[in-house]
Amino acid sequence: MLVHGQPYRTVWLEAGGESVEIIDQTLLPFAFKTVRLHSTAEVCHAIREMWVRGAGCIGATAAHGMYLAARECERDGLRGGSFDRALREKGRELCATRPTAVNLAWAVERQLAAVALVDSGVDKVTVAREMAREIADEDADFCRRIGEHGLDLIRGVFEAKGGKSPVNVLTHCNAGWLAFVDHGSATAPIYAAQAAGIPVHVWVDETRPRNQGARLTAWELGQQGVPHTVIVDNVGGHLMQHGKVDLVITGTDRTTYTGDVANKIGTYLKALAAQDNGVPFYVALPSSTFDWEIADGLAGIPIEERGGDEVAKIAGLANDTEIEVNLVAKGTPVANFAFDVTPARLVTGLITERGVCPANEAGIRSLFPEKAPSIARV
Ligand code: MRU
Repeated sequence: MLVHGQPYRTVWLEAGGESVEIIDQTLLPFAFKTVRLHSTAEVCHAIREMWVRGAGCIGATAAHGMYLAARECERDGLRGGSFDRALREKGRELCATRPTAVNLAWAVERQLAAVALVDSGVDKVTVAREMAREIADEDADFCRRIGEHGLDLIRGVFEAKGGKSPVNVLTHCNAGWLAFVDHGSATAPIYAAQAAGIPVHVWVDETRPRNQGARLTAWELGQQGVPHTVIVDNVGGHLMQHGKVDLVITGTDRTTYTGDVANKIGTYLKALAAQDNGVPFYVALPSSTFDWEIADGLAGIPIEERGGDEVAKIAGLANDTEIEVNLVAKGTPVANFAFDVTPARLVTGLITERGVCPANEAGIRSLFPEKAPSIARV
């Protein structure tokens, strides 16, 4: 998508293939800076410290990290089985950086399976490089298709409202292009509606504690010229009670094959408010975000707990410099659960690259029949 009018993706291989380039998302919206990562360790650091974040972006960055890992194995003179074992260990290090978004493990596994098919170290590096590119391209393409399917929903709402006034979409956190390789999941239908000439306005939850809504979603919508308004996290219910939200679209970091949705903390409360007010609550995701092994999201999805400083402090710009200030008295106990699970019964539908389906096993299976064997196994 556009940054100051120039098209960007969130992760790419620098021309010579020596390094992986990313956008340091911790600096946004106050500074736009790209960073080069040269090793698996640097990629792990970038994911753990949330220089890159969001399910699809984490997955694609990890896929590129596996390419750097393959280069390291080759440089160490490893061959065949020892190469694959060392690469698996580096894959484990990548997977340990953040637990909730399933795209990370999915990308690592996909790389390991591809690399194991060839013998020589040089060939393995070539395969890993090609696979990193494939995963990134696929993520972008799937998000684009999510946009096409979600557009039909937005168009339906627009026409039902009389075809004149803007469609008001509420979103939580950042499931925009910054959270993927391009287009985003929750934002793809919004961008598609904008391109189709349908007026859209987005209510952007600020999304404490890290404020991905205020800092990232608002910035990227602004860059694309989409009308939007930032609200604090407690406002959504009030807006819905007063008919100011036509639909909610969020992303997800992991969705079970039964339709339970893990997403940024606070999503569950929005889903409850949406149900109470008869507002459709949609979740947009590429198939890489489905967990085909977990049936019960509440029991099975690991919820990341992060450091208390994210709650106890808040960052912002003062005199052109980003500073951090304390929100609570020194020593105040805080807790920082990064995600919650919205049960499938509260989700109106899932918007995927293959279409929109009900958030239940039968609905998901109807779009992804080839996943049936793994569903049956669990
Ligand atoms: O902690 P983050 O920023 O990696 O969390 C991810 C998110 O931004 C959201 O949960 C998002 O809605 C889903 S990821 C596409």
